[in-house]
Parts: sequence; C-alpha cells; structure tokens
Amino acid sequence: MKKVLVSGIKPTGTLHLGNYFGAIKQMVELGNSDAYESFIFIANYHALTTVKNRNELIQDTFDIACAYLACGLDTKKVSLFKQSDTPEVHELTWIFNTAITMPFLMRAHAFKDHEAKNKDVNVGLFDYPVLMASDILMYQADIVPVGQDQKQHVEYARDIAGYFNRAWGQEYFKLPKAHIVEGVAQVPGTDGQKMSKSYGNIIPLFGTDEEIKKAVMGIVTDSKAPEEKKNPSENNIYKIHTLFLTENEDNELRNRYEQGGLSYKEAKEMLLDAILSFVRPLREKYEYYQSHPREVEVILSRGAEKARIKTVTTMDEVRGIVGLTK
Ligand code: ADP
Ligand code: TRP
Repeated sequence: MKKVLVSGIKPTGTLHLGNYFGAIKQMVELGNSDAYESFIFIANYHALTTVKNRNELIQDTFDIACAYLACGLDTKKVSLFKQSDTPEVHELTWIFNTAITMPFLMRAHAFKDHEAKNKDVNVGLFDYPVLMASDILMYQADIVPVGQDQKQHVEYARDIAGYFNRAWGQEYFKLPKAHIVEGVAQVPGTDGQKMSKSYGNIIPLFGTDEEIKKAVMGIVTDSKAPEEKKNPSENNIYKIHTLFLTENEDNELRNRYEQGGLSYKEAKEMLLDAILSFVRPLREKYEYYQSHPREVEVILSRGAEKARIKTVTTMDEVRGIVGLTK
C-alpha cells in the first residue's frame, strides 16, 4: 500500500513566493512522485472563517486551482478538488468535537493571536484545527507537506487522532506527520518578517512584471554603501535570492556579498531577473488555465469523485465505530 499525502491551501488572497517555496513546491514534487497516493485540495470551508464575500471566495478558489495546475501538479497522479465537495469532513469534525475539550483548542496559536488582538473569534475559527484534522485524518494521511506556520495544526491532527482512538478504544486513525523542508519553512518577506499576505510584505507568485519589480525594489536593507562588505545571511535580498540558485550560483553570490562592491540596487536587479525567469513560464500556464475554466472544473470534479470514495468509506466506518450505525 502506498503512503498517503494530504495537503491544502486556503483560498484567501494573493499567492506569494512563501506559499510556493514553503508548501506548493513540496506538494507538487511529492504528489507527482509515485511514492504517494495524494489528495490536494482548496480549503474553501476554512476560508469562510474570514471571507464573507461570495464572488471573492469563488474567484480565489478558482485562482488556487489554476495555481496548483500552473505549478505542475499532475492530476493523473494527484486528486485535486475543492474541500466543499467533501462535506463528510463536517460530520467527522462534529464527532471529533465531542471527544476534545475547549482548553485543548484554546492553546492554538491562531486562536491566541486573535484573542490577543481583541478580535472577535467566530466559532469556525475556534474550531479551525478540528476541521483541518478531519481533512487530514479522513484519508488516513501519513504526511502533510506544509510551511512552518501550519506545524501546530498538523500536531492537532495527531492529537485528535489519539483522542478518538482512545475514546472509542481502537487504533482506527493513523497519526500523520507534517513534512516541512528546512531552509524554506519560513520564507522572509520584503520587510524581513515571514512573508505573509497578512503583513503586506509579499512578492506575488503570479503578479505582473511591474508588481514583482515594485515588491523587489521595496525590499528593506540596511544603509551599507556599495563598496562595503556584507553578510549575506543577514540580508533580505540574499535570503530570497538563494531560493532560486544552484549550489554553485549560491556560493558565487555569497562571495560577492562578502567581498564588498555589490550595491543593493544591483543585488535587487539580479534578484528581479531570477524571479522573473522563474515565474514567467508558470504565469503563462496560469493564464492558460484562467482562460480555460471548463478544463479546470472537469479536473476538480474528477478529483472530488476520487476523494469522496475515501471520505464516504471513512465515514461509514466511523459511524459504525461510534455507534451511529449498527
Ligand atoms: P499566509 O501566511 O500568506 O496567509 P497561508 O497561511 O495561506 O499563507 O499559507 C498557505 C501555505 O503556505 C501553508 O502551508 C503555509 O505554511 C505556507 N506558507 C505561507 N507563508 C510562508 C512562508 N513565508 N514561508 C514558508 N511557507 C509559507
Ligand atoms: N490551514 C491551511 C492553510 O492555512 C489549509 C488547510 C486546511 C490544510 N486543511 C488542511 C493544509 C489539511 C494541510 C492539510 O494553509
């Protein structure tokens, strides 16, 4: 039996280089390999915790589907679908909700951040880790490729599997593991903090040349003069540039920083070239799918059919285990 891979992305706004290098790249590489049976989806139920605009949700959901495809996901090998085509996750979420406690969920970083900012926390947001656990456990996932900030959520899924197995006295759910790649776990944004659409510091993956240029030219640096020696490991331009380089190219670039003589203007121009040569072919494919929505819909509905074989089977078994059916 092949190992199972599950992952998803919430359709809430513009995808950026952090999403690509931290999560999508691993989903595509591992999903396209023959090592896993893979389920990758667009987490539109999760998006509802923050998005209350139907057109926006529809558009962002479609955009993420196009993004996965443009980044090379092979849908002959990977089931790609919308989370809302697997409504069984809610039934499982309810059952999990009856086996865990409020204090357990109150430890979640996302919940604590919202509380700390005195924001109103809707019940969906509070329960977010449980729905995510259902997404993962539903398929008996072994690995979940994500960026560092989702690590706690995958740990929640492991804990919830354990609670379920203990509560109903059988080792039914497998304990999944996060797959996080060191070095890209937290791609920095233009201001040096984690790149995130919430911080306004992103370099968009499918932006226009102009948008990407504006973001790159806005990368925050210190005020060292061109001739001064610079430490690449402390430099935001370099930390993003390194994502695009082979080992040799990387060593060469590090040398240029360390020797002095590299101005930040030139460093940014070099980075811009690297980003544009990388994103242009992806953007072309993205535009192709944007103008072929029917093709995308067909892929998503085929993916949903395959996913539902699993979700329906799991729920039949779970109903039996907990006593909803005989
Ligand atoms: P954002 O922080 O921009 O809202 P999401 O929370 O939607 O991004 O993240 C989608 C996926 O991309 C997750 O797996 C997340 O861990 C990953 N990710 C997001 N930002 C980064 C980053 N700066 N570096 C690495 N991975 C990231
Ligand atoms: N919480 C994830 C994010 O913000 C999206 C997500 C929902 C997910 N369910 C998942 C990721 C299951 C991996 C596995 O990006």
